Amino acid sequence: MNIAERILILDFGSQYTQLIARKVRECGVFAEIHPFNISAGEIRGLAPKGIILSGGPRSVYSEEAPHPTMDIFDMGVPVLGICYGLQLIAQHFGGKVDPAAKREFGRAHITVHGDQDLLANVPVGSQVWMSHGDSLTNMPEGFEVIAHTENAPICAVRKQDAPVYGVQFHPEVHHSEHGKQLLHNFLFNICKCDGGWNPETFIESATREIRARVGDEGVICALSGGVDSTVAAVLLHHALGDQVHCIHIDNGLMRKDESRGVIELFREHFNMSIDFVDASDLFLERLAGVSDPEKKRKIIGNAFIDIFDKEARKFNDAKWLAQGTLYPDVIESVSFKGPSVTIKTHHNVGGLPERMNLKLVEPFRELFKDEVRAVGSALDIPAEFIERHPFPGPGLAIRVPGEVTRERLDILREADEIYLDEIRKAGLYNDIWQAFAVLLPVQTVGVMGDERTYEHVCGLRAVTSTDGMTADWFHMPYDVLARMSNRIINEVRGINRVVYDISSKPPATIEWE
Ligand code: XMP
Repeated sequence: MNIAERILILDFGSQYTQLIARKVRECGVFAEIHPFNISAGEIRGLAPKGIILSGGPRSVYSEEAPHPTMDIFDMGVPVLGICYGLQLIAQHFGGKVDPAAKREFGRAHITVHGDQDLLANVPVGSQVWMSHGDSLTNMPEGFEVIAHTENAPICAVRKQDAPVYGVQFHPEVHHSEHGKQLLHNFLFNICKCDGGWNPETFIESATREIRARVGDEGVICALSGGVDSTVAAVLLHHALGDQVHCIHIDNGLMRKDESRGVIELFREHFNMSIDFVDASDLFLERLAGVSDPEKKRKIIGNAFIDIFDKEARKFNDAKWLAQGTLYPDVIESVSFKGPSVTIKTHHNVGGLPERMNLKLVEPFRELFKDEVRAVGSALDIPAEFIERHPFPGPGLAIRVPGEVTRERLDILREADEIYLDEIRKAGLYNDIWQAFAVLLPVQTVGVMGDERTYEHVCGLRAVTSTDGMTADWFHMPYDVLARMSNRIINEVRGINRVVYDISSKPPATIEWE
């Protein structure tokens, strides 16, 4: 991406590294994260206006301690070290880092010494968030202390003859009251950034870059109706017009009227051509008799690839496949969190570009989800599409535990629609990260009129989360729950009992399968 000014963040494994990038971008400056061991040559090639060294779980003295190239201090580029980053700076310049007498986790109050550039407008006594076991005990030569807290006499430092700074606390987290002010000071007072990174400037530079890369070749977009693929398709169309071919496959596992909404948006609102394929029979045939969740995912992923491959071959000018890959997906592979166990396989259509011999165009590889939403708004995509909750690739198949049949899916679609309708009417949709109904393969006894009934149980799930990795159940008001339950049982044939899921993640997951 052709970006006029950028800040590099070197990742030493802190859980907050992504937050640093977000906060810098919120200040209007583009930031990107790289692994700690990026070479000096690569850094020079990126020509950053400043470098931020993230925190990290190691001690700078341990054998496994990650170290960056020390050339960063000779490039004439300002450097800010956060927590572990500060300790690296101190160690490099001859200071001393020791296990702290009092380890500090959580809030502390900062005292700023004088009116300093990095700490300008950070009030004395304001709250900062600490999370460290080691502390700086001896100052490196040529540095001065610019702030302290009760437990950390050396809480922030500055090199006297060069723009090298370090802070022991985490300015990027919400609980550091004036942390954003500190980052703002670093960006604008010290790195002399101009700012101005926003959705409109992103659209302009992305458009230029897409045109330059793709030329006059065709691009295929798989439209699921989700936020990322929708915004990607509209952006590509904005850049390339009729060179873009959109394909929407109805796998029979969508929510009620969902495919219709996608088609209407693209054909009527954006006047784009879209190839609609109703493949529900094929998906449901292949799913018949299958109950295992991972098998369902594989069947659905493979069926999608088969159909998409066949449809895409109609567009023989196409050499590119558009994907709505986001920044967190990209950098997950470079941070060193270590191998984690596969709980569920989420990448349903991996292998597609190789099989079809297509090159990938991924305009959002550098964006976070909320930035993609902002780009979508700037491209005039209606709010109802942009604010949508995430929806899994395997769709309702993983919300019908056990065997998936058309009849069960139809019952679930009705219940899910009522549930979401009541959430919207109560004005709660945007307070919730994800909400959906589940149809249990269990029948229970009920009584309606004078009749005994023996029908399905419907589970309702709503969670709050920031990234889907952890989640809490949403505290749905009782009166809203009462209306939902009433309507679902009265209006949906096949359900006579409604339950609300009050499990957090972990130990539960968001989806039931
Ligand atoms: P879990 O259930 O793992 O879900 O807590 C976390 C987030 O991922 C979504 N999810 C999926 N998305 N394919 C997808 O594209 C899948 O197989 C899949 N399984 C779960 C889930 O909806 C939630 O947003």
